[in-house]
Amino acid sequence: MRIIVAKDYTEMSKRAADIIASQVRINAHSVIGLATGSTPIGAYEELIRQYNEEGLNFGNVDTFNLDEYLGLNCTHSQSYRYFMNKYLLDHVNIDPDRTHVPDGMAEDPESECEAYDQLIREIGGIDLQLLGMGNNGHIGFNEPSSFYTAPTHIVKLTESTIKANSRYFDNEKDVPRYAMTMGFRPIMQAKRVIFVVSGKAKAKVVKEALEGPITPQLPASILQLHHDVIVVLDQDAASEMDLKDNFILTDDQLFR
Ligand code: F6R
Repeated sequence: MRIIVAKDYTEMSKRAADIIASQVRINAHSVIGLATGSTPIGAYEELIRQYNEEGLNFGNVDTFNLDEYLGLNCTHSQSYRYFMNKYLLDHVNIDPDRTHVPDGMAEDPESECEAYDQLIREIGGIDLQLLGMGNNGHIGFNEPSSFYTAPTHIVKLTESTIKANSRYFDNEKDVPRYAMTMGFRPIMQAKRVIFVVSGKAKAKVVKEALEGPITPQLPASILQLHHDVIVVLDQDAASEMDLKDNFILTDDQLFR
């Protein structure tokens, strides 16, 4: 596991964007797994900048998002499809037909989950999966549980996630109670994972996830088993970590 500790959110976002941009430059036909939430917004802004100013080309890229709320239409301002279009996809030269988010309005959500995994398999899997982490250690919407669920599936959101996500809704009761999420199989089968975490509030959980026991009670801890994961933290998120056994790069060690 390689860990990059950036001095703040802006630097963290730049590092994360550079890793994604390198992937796209090295392989124009890359399949990128995307996340929503507040953490990756800065990285998406930097990718848009690189598209506008440096010719970063998304013309042959496919994207697969991790998750979507069940029951929210893609035009709903809190749906993850809406988020992705707003913060990245509408601003770069990606073919909309090659951008994938589970359909939260699917008539048969179970079949939608199966079809989503099938599509990921047919395309040859994900080259680079971007992940954030919830306050309770969730990745995608894989909530703390007593077992890992492999395929894309429907999940009941925990109270902690509903509370955390209520900041985007007028009222906590408007937050959907169910979502579809990629399971651990497509995530762990991604050829490379980039895991971004920012802020003091997640410092303890990120330490437990990366330095503690591997357990489905703390879903992000499974990343310790991935063969190619790059962790990008800001200093606040890294503040509780030992960082002894890891390959750490601080800002001044990175070339610019
Ligand atoms: C969303 C997702 C979630 C978020 C997590 C952190 O697609 O996968 O796991 O990454 O809830 O959200 P923020 O970044 O808002 O703290």
